[in-house]
Amino acid sequence: MAIEDKLENLVRLRQQVKLGGGVKRIEAQHAKGKLTARERIELLVDPGSFEELDPFITHCCTDFGLAEEHYLGDAIVTGYGNVNGRLAFIFAQDFTVFGGSLSKVVAEKTCKVMDMAAKNGAPIIGLLDSGGARIQEGVDSLQGYGDIFTRNTLYSGVIPQISVVMGPCAGGAVYSPAITDFIFMVKGTGQMYITGPEVIKSVTGEEVALEQLGGAMVHARKSGNSHFVAENDPECLQMVRRLLTFLPQSNMEEPPMVRSGDDPNRMDQELLYLVPDEPSKAYNMREVITRVVDKGDFMEVHKDFAPSLIVGFARLGGRSVGIVAQQPLHFAGVIDINASDKGARFVRFCDCFNIPLVTFADVPGYMPGTDQEYGGIIRHGAKFLYSYAEATVPKVCVITRKAYGGAFVVMSSKSLRGDINYAWPTAEIAVMGPDGAVNIVFRSEIAKSPNPEEARQRLVSEYRERFANPYVAASRGYIDDVIDPRTTRPKLIKALGMLQNKVDTLPAKKHGNIPL
Ligand code: HXC
Repeated sequence: MAIEDKLENLVRLRQQVKLGGGVKRIEAQHAKGKLTARERIELLVDPGSFEELDPFITHCCTDFGLAEEHYLGDAIVTGYGNVNGRLAFIFAQDFTVFGGSLSKVVAEKTCKVMDMAAKNGAPIIGLLDSGGARIQEGVDSLQGYGDIFTRNTLYSGVIPQISVVMGPCAGGAVYSPAITDFIFMVKGTGQMYITGPEVIKSVTGEEVALEQLGGAMVHARKSGNSHFVAENDPECLQMVRRLLTFLPQSNMEEPPMVRSGDDPNRMDQELLYLVPDEPSKAYNMREVITRVVDKGDFMEVHKDFAPSLIVGFARLGGRSVGIVAQQPLHFAGVIDINASDKGARFVRFCDCFNIPLVTFADVPGYMPGTDQEYGGIIRHGAKFLYSYAEATVPKVCVITRKAYGGAFVVMSSKSLRGDINYAWPTAEIAVMGPDGAVNIVFRSEIAKSPNPEEARQRLVSEYRERFANPYVAASRGYIDDVIDPRTTRPKLIKALGMLQNKVDTLPAKKHGNIPL
């Protein structure tokens, strides 16, 4: 055969590869509001940069009539391309081929591209849309899942791993995204669950619709399994591109500098008036964050989960930072079980990938109550504390108002190896709030007083005067300085500049044993 004929044959085969499971199934995919694997990749990478790998692989199963049915590339598209000009590795499950199910060769393709990502120090992004284990391939498929989970685990903390759930992700298959750093889900089509509605009904009698069981909003609000929710496939892929701008390619790199043109010395007059005079009145910490960071650009993570804590990425003077902050608008910014998990996971991600931590604290304490105690707030709260103490990245903190008790300690305090700790003049740093403290210390004095309420109020205001301010902590060096709120941005940028070559270590060990 002449080379021209061979090339023609190659072009024909490539056309076949592009069609996946065929025109009818592509139409069915579109009818469900989903893009195909290839369309998704095109939206994720910079135009024309995708290089596909293994397009001619086919499955080798001969059971249940599968010997007759083959699709080039099988049920996954893998390869590499650029995202915002930087290398990224991608696998996208192709629902048009056997429902995107995982055969032996689909697993092998997935593992190959994961290994390449780790070897070459670049993020791996999985676009998930699959009916799970290829039923006809039985244990080969299970072995394949195990091989993927192992790589997810070994490469955790080495390269950023991102899962994008754009269709079904059911059964044990969910444990791959669950190990990765971030999960994106598309509303209406992305679903994750261990057992589906039918099995639940037959085992427990409970009836639940698929979306209520494992839809995007359920995982964003209730379980906390998903970090980002998008309205549709294109929006979701844009969000993935945005997230990657904040991250380094691997644990061996610093995050990229992105100059925004925002003046590092910019002061903000409004910061003076954000914290209300009345101590129990709420304000929006998100506004503090967006007024301080470069161009107000803040990508919030876990926005709908544990809303008393805010976490997310921003930049200060062009440097990526991980922001951790209380949200006084929700339960006064109290730390509960979910906020502890959310904070700990985020702090550890930033520490893995050399992203400095900037903390804004306004926290009345840990959440009281039997719900929380029985649910294990001791264990969960401990992991938040552990994550801050363990982190060796630069850690800068600003206390805007309350920092009471254990919650003062956990929020990047000096005792947990915080580097620079600032307080606004509005800060109140003490073992507990004035009301609680006075009720305990002066209980009998108040009871004996002819006017107990008047005595209580006098003692509260004396306590507030003496302890509920930043100066006791500052006089001991637990706070490095009390700063004018308007100068917060320049102060943070200078601190981060000073800390850019920080070296801190942990004692030699295999790994710590974080309370889980
Ligand atoms: C082989 C599968 C498949 C699977 C779907 N298909 N799932 N083929 N193995 N697991 C095929 C269908 O036969 C169909 O083929 C095509 O994919 C599209 O499927 P539909 O059912 O028509 O699509 P839809 O109505 O959108 O429903 C999607 C679905 C459903 C909800 C995912 O297909 C489904 O429930 N599938 C089975 C899910 C499941 O139980 N998987 C195994 C879980 S156990 P045609 O030829 O008609 O296009 C597991 C263990 C993992 O995953 C353990 C890891 C440790």
